[in-house]
Amino acid sequence: MSKTVNPAAAELIARSNRLGSDPRNTNYAGGNTSAKGTETDPVTGEPVELLWVKGSGGDLGTLTESGLAVLRLDRMRALVDVYPGVDREDEMVAAFDYCLHGKGGAAPSIDTAMHGLVDAPHVDHLHPDSGIAIATAAEGEALTKEIFGDRVVWVPWRRPGFQLGLDIASIKEANPQAVGCILGGHGITAWGDTSDEAEAHSLWIIETAAAYIAEHSKPEPFGPPLEGYAALPEAERRARAAAIGATIRGIASQDRPMVGHFTDSDVVLDFLASSEHPRLAALGTSCPDHFLRTKVKPLVLDLPASASVEDTVARLQELAVAYREDYQGYYDRNAVSTGSTTEGGSTTAWPAIRGADPLIVLVPGVGMFSYGKDKQTARVAGEFYTNAINVMRGAEGLSTYAPIDEAEKFRIEYWALEEAKLQRMPAPKPLATRIALVTGAAGGIGKATARRLAAEGACVVIADLSLEKAQAAAAEIGGPDVAVGVAADVSDEAAVQAMVDATVLAFGGLDLVVNNAGLSLSKSLMDTTAADWDLQHNVMAKGSFLVSKAAARVLIDQQMGGDIVYISSKNSIFAGPNNIAYSATKADQAHQVRLLAAELGEHGVKVNGVNPDGVVQGSGIFASGWGANRAAVYGVEEKDLGKFYAQRTILKREVLPENIANAVFALCGPDMTHTTGLHIPVDAGVAAAFLR
Ligand SMILES: NC(=O)c1ccc[n+]([C@@H]2O[C@H](COP(=O)([O-])OP(=O)(O)OC[C@H]3O[C@@H](n4cnc5c(N)ncnc54)[C@H](O)[C@@H]3O)[C@@H](O)[C@H]2O)c1
Ligand SMILES: [Zn+2]
Repeated sequence: MSKTVNPAAAELIARSNRLGSDPRNTNYAGGNTSAKGTETDPVTGEPVELLWVKGSGGDLGTLTESGLAVLRLDRMRALVDVYPGVDREDEMVAAFDYCLHGKGGAAPSIDTAMHGLVDAPHVDHLHPDSGIAIATAAEGEALTKEIFGDRVVWVPWRRPGFQLGLDIASIKEANPQAVGCILGGHGITAWGDTSDEAEAHSLWIIETAAAYIAEHSKPEPFGPPLEGYAALPEAERRARAAAIGATIRGIASQDRPMVGHFTDSDVVLDFLASSEHPRLAALGTSCPDHFLRTKVKPLVLDLPASASVEDTVARLQELAVAYREDYQGYYDRNAVSTGSTTEGGSTTAWPAIRGADPLIVLVPGVGMFSYGKDKQTARVAGEFYTNAINVMRGAEGLSTYAPIDEAEKFRIEYWALEEAKLQRMPAPKPLATRIALVTGAAGGIGKATARRLAAEGACVVIADLSLEKAQAAAAEIGGPDVAVGVAADVSDEAAVQAMVDATVLAFGGLDLVVNNAGLSLSKSLMDTTAADWDLQHNVMAKGSFLVSKAAARVLIDQQMGGDIVYISSKNSIFAGPNNIAYSATKADQAHQVRLLAAELGEHGVKVNGVNPDGVVQGSGIFASGWGANRAAVYGVEEKDLGKFYAQRTILKREVLPENIANAVFALCGPDMTHTTGLHIPVDAGVAAAFLR
């Protein structure tokens, strides 16, 4: 049975996408929209009034029909008669399920009551920076009158829920001239008789607030510039960010490992360069969406950008200890003093503390480091704090920034409904939060390895000689939140450092290094030139030494352990003719595994190797002459070389790039936590290369 989208829902989706795609209108995944309309009830054949409302989760900018909850309006509104009062308003969320029309669609969110109860065919609830600036200004109520007259009504702070819906509905009824309201400490809600009218009212509130702020704001809302806190020049601040990024990720990952995102936008740098930023940052954020994403407040470094890296790192470590104590204090104070939340009439304890590490770390002159369970979450946390800065600028420009009080922040952060959402999240993949760097990963074994690590949840940086090919391989594996490509010649020390810095800037740090870059010249002793020897050794022995060295600096700074995996070779053990330079440098790599396993173990870093053999498919080494050469040596056709190698093995199986990738995952995945200094042969069985 094909079903056409109801015109009211279609208009709603188009309006939501327009509103949600402009960050001035709402933050990522913030706000929700609705429409009311009529459809024929398939049970009775009679018309039935429905409410389409953006469901829990999801983003307005990319909303589709599946992101809408569809409720029967009569049943939803009938809930007013059984509403047990504000103390038990959370129970109404479960009751929404009994109002659903048909199946499918998204779960109704906490804001469903506001949309259903407000008597208007179209309703928008948004989190615009300009509107929240008014909503969090100490004189917010007076400013609302001053800016909007009687067209927009002030609603004092109340936690989102059924009661807020009732409040807004009665305010609309009492103010028939109003087109919307400012929700204290929170955001805006607007309505209209048509979809276009609701959209126009939303935009009018947002733009009018922004224009008023632009016209009436005092000149330096964040105060005069702070001596020594100006932004460093771009190249310098990015180098500084890379130098301290690993330490900060370690600080943010004490309770659980985090992926990072770095933002050095003007908004962030200007805030940090002004005298009032410490006071404002300490006041914390306000809009309900923010608490789980950014925590109540950030960790702010209190040193100028001219401080040395050593002093900066030392101070950050001290501040991290203080931050954790402060957060624990906030939890203890509020979890005890407010006692408990009520669920289903019975009293339940607050959810356990979710960790005391900062999610936002601000470094004057350099920028903002934000953290999350994956790259997207880390990036959005940074976007949210940027929203918070914009809000504070607007509020301070007109009045004084006055976010909701601590107890209310806590009630939002540890809300039973939010906790339930977190409990419903799928279990993370085995390599979630791990940041991998694979060299020579534009093709062959390296690309297969990067693909496998990404499939297991890792963020991956693909490094290779050609930027274009590295980026193409990254794009094949996933978007920029999963994989990025960088150019690096591993035999060049400066290029290797730049590659590791790029990894820290892209994902916050580094956990898992795969020394895979290589090439092979198959030549006899007499044919091998000194230049051949140098090339083989520069890329493989020296290259992996340089990569391991630069990476180990990050691993040690982070204090989160880590893995280094060398793709060496059967030829590091096996001796055959025409392979002097290649096999000698492979043996060098193999011994680096043992040497570094012994040296880096005290930092929790495991170092292991994989010994492949005969990987013909997908291998650039074989395609670029080595395959033809080997085929000629063995007297077979080049296309049959893989099968030929297979016949030489004990298992008689052809070895594919994926088989090597599997071994890398096994070494650095959740199972082999107690193994270091090992080489795994992945050669389908070659007795002459058995390890002993
Ligand atoms: N294919 C096999 O049978 C086999 C067997 C044993 C070991 N290995 C090893 O596996 C690794 C990957 O080989 P492959 O078969 O996938 O070959 P491949 O040629 O497909 O991949 C090697 C990659 O390394 C890159 N590279 C070369 N020099 C570099 C440099 N200086 N800096 C950065 N990147 C550089 C190349 O551009 C290429 O993308 C190599 O170390 C190789 O020695 C391969
Ligand atoms: Zn909201």
